[in-house]
Amino acid sequence: MTVRVPAKVNLQLAVGPLRDDGYHDLVNVFHAVSLFDEVTATEPGTPGTFTVRIEGESADHVPADGTNLAVRAAEALAKHAGQTGPAGHPYGADLLIRKAIPVAGGMAGGSADAAAALVACDALWGLGLSRADLMEIGAGIGSDVPFALLGGTAVGTGRGERLTPVPATGAFHWVFALADGGLSTPQVYGECDRLRADAGEEVAWPSASEPLMAALRDGDAPALGAALANDLQPAALALRPSLARTLDAGRDAGALGAIVSGSGPTCAFLAASADHARELSAALAATGVCRTAVTAQGPVPGAEIVQYEE
Ligand code: C5P
Repeated sequence: MTVRVPAKVNLQLAVGPLRDDGYHDLVNVFHAVSLFDEVTATEPGTPGTFTVRIEGESADHVPADGTNLAVRAAEALAKHAGQTGPAGHPYGADLLIRKAIPVAGGMAGGSADAAAALVACDALWGLGLSRADLMEIGAGIGSDVPFALLGGTAVGTGRGERLTPVPATGAFHWVFALADGGLSTPQVYGECDRLRADAGEEVAWPSASEPLMAALRDGDAPALGAALANDLQPAALALRPSLARTLDAGRDAGALGAIVSGSGPTCAFLAASADHARELSAALAATGVCRTAVTAQGPVPGAEIVQYEE
């Protein structure tokens, strides 16, 4: 059972006050883009066991043990299902993750793999759970997992897990500048809190940007580029100052908008067309301000089965 799952970029990430549970209340406009991981789930050699192998983009930086989010998601699903399948065997799976989404890159790659594992194991075990059920189980694994199951464009509130789809017209063309090494999401949120405390900033309750919603509704790429906003960007730039040059290089090369993706260090650039995205990608790669640049378009659907093997 093979499931394809998209990366996300945050079109708006408005970070509210720190909550008692260590999370921040957000307004998080998620947008799924055509940069995909694939997760294959097969019956394990030994019933009731979970294994994981990782191939592809920075595979050696992904844990291949029980801490892997895909394994944790599969185990949570087994627990939800009641441990034993119709044949009386405990549920288990051998998972193979083929990565294209940058690791610790601010594009929710780990959450994507968890979402894909939920869909793959649900099908492998014949559970037939609804997307809503899978999204609820996924929210326990990570704040971005429910969106990887939903896809498209959506506003996330709470810690990002309560989703409302956003109407969007047409396709948007993106370039992503992938960096060497990742950034830790908790560390970036912590830096954001520290910068705000140092500045004596009163942290406002987050709200969705009207110009951004209008740009999505109208399919207006220049307006969307101008409305992109990420409250985590100053923190990501403080922890990785070289990203300022990456963003400048994209703007100089004619991007309609340039932003750090989520907690970074991937930078996202909005292009006017697929051709423009290819030009922008080549220009970024040539300036040496990133490890590599890739093009993608959004919105795309959430995790879906691409291959079923009897
Ligand atoms: O939910 P997830 O495990 O993906 O979150 C990773 C970390 O990001 C959390 O431990 C927390 O430090 C930070 N976070 C946050 N507020 C959110 C989402 C994530 O502070 N709404």
